[in-house]
Amino acid sequence: MKISFFRKATAKVDALVVTAHRDRALGEAATELDRRGDGVLTRAMAASRFTGAANQVLDVVAPAGLDVGHILIAGLGKPNSADIRAVQDLGGRLVAHLNRAGARSATVMVEHWIHGDGGGPMVAEQAANLAYGARLRSYRFDKYRTKLKPADKPTLRRLNLVTRRPGQAATSFETLDRIADGVFFTRDLVSEPANIIYPESLAAEAKTLAALGVDVEILNQAQIEDLDMGALLGVAQGSARDPRVVVMQWNGSPKGPDDRPLAFVGKGVTFDTGGISIKPAGGMEDMKWDMGGSAVVIGLMKALASRGAKVNAVGVIGLVENMPSATAQRPGDVVTSMSGQTIEVINTDAEGRLVLADALWYCNKRFKPKAIVDLATLTGAIIIALGSYQAGMFANDDRLARRLVAAGRAVGEEVWRMPLGERYDKDINSDIADMKNVGKNREAGSITAAQFLQRFVGRAAWAHLDIAGVTWSKSDGPTVPKGGTGFGVRLLDRLVADAYEG
Ligand code: BES
Ligand code: MN
Ligand code: ZN
Repeated sequence: MKISFFRKATAKVDALVVTAHRDRALGEAATELDRRGDGVLTRAMAASRFTGAANQVLDVVAPAGLDVGHILIAGLGKPNSADIRAVQDLGGRLVAHLNRAGARSATVMVEHWIHGDGGGPMVAEQAANLAYGARLRSYRFDKYRTKLKPADKPTLRRLNLVTRRPGQAATSFETLDRIADGVFFTRDLVSEPANIIYPESLAAEAKTLAALGVDVEILNQAQIEDLDMGALLGVAQGSARDPRVVVMQWNGSPKGPDDRPLAFVGKGVTFDTGGISIKPAGGMEDMKWDMGGSAVVIGLMKALASRGAKVNAVGVIGLVENMPSATAQRPGDVVTSMSGQTIEVINTDAEGRLVLADALWYCNKRFKPKAIVDLATLTGAIIIALGSYQAGMFANDDRLARRLVAAGRAVGEEVWRMPLGERYDKDINSDIADMKNVGKNREAGSITAAQFLQRFVGRAAWAHLDIAGVTWSKSDGPTVPKGGTGFGVRLLDRLVADAYEG
């Protein structure tokens, strides 16, 4: 889909999109069109339930003479109620609607919906963000569908946005478009099945970021052994696929008094069978996306590099496959992590924390980061607690936590802070080792998992995002089609932009 910005609607297109506020109050372009079409929009609204409420779209067949096939009236709700996210959602909904209607091209008349700056830069931001929402919703993962019927294929090829400030809108969109590239990369990686994406091939995908100026190092089995990452290696030992640890560095900030990087660490379990503590068959296919945390780190590094973020960022991902086999670790095994701390592996299905333990320790020791944010599809319990609308956030640093909450609200990838505490920490003490990898029965499962991670971050400012509930979506959202969501890329890009750049 090609997206362009114009000052005037001159191109011939299949569909023209205009807007109305609630109580059927047509916008400027809509009013003009209604006049030229002898009241066709007014009559169409009167004959339907369309009131101009936000989320409504009315499809009107245009009368001869207007030189367009369809007119869509998009509802904006009450005047002045639109914000940037609402505009992104509108862009997304329009793309879905236009594809369902079979339109190949469309022009959207962007008007002055968000007030506050007297029609200044906000007009350009609106157009750019409508385009951003449209692009985010246009994502598809069709590569394995060889028999897709023409009627099921998306039709929309061209989206034109008409705005008073086309140049400024295009410049603004340029950055958003690069962030969307990162989101799409994450969605692709998460959608790939585990026979295609395994530690070695996922590391190779990360390596493609070198073309954008990211320094990418891939540690193989022997190098991981040399580092004594016994917790990660214990998970990997049941698989025929060797593990990898990938380190990605983006140095976009000029040298300053404090050029310590910001670090992102991701769980990359390319398939989680549970190991010897094997999972039930029903739904196990979902565990192909147990590498979602690592895919967010890769997509984020792509977004930061391709938009030229002025920040020093490092991404560390631990890539393993959790399999049951003759060489798999057993419940009760004791492993020694890179930190030297010993872990009694009570349940081989609590593997993500074992992988992250070594990845976090390594990252902190090597880079001494300003702050560390890790992402992991870590616990089923976080889905019970928060469902699929917000990620769980655990932090040892209030400022970092506040920044994450704010960034999440701004982009619509929200995080809800969960507690940490000494009594939860005690629940993972072991009788024979320094700790065990599960808590007390199923109590506070997401919290005891976070406590486990906290034992490997030392004094660094740290936040852990449990994204098990938000990484995959079973239904379409305005800017996120069902499937891999890429949740975390926009959030962390925003965190970087608002708190660590410049
Ligand atoms: N990858 C799973 C968590 C998960 C479950 C993610 C469902 C997405 C959807 C993780 O490795 C796991 O198996 N966690 C166990 C921990 C338990 C054994 C303490 C869980 O949540 O059941
Ligand atoms: Mn597991
Ligand atoms: Zn897992």
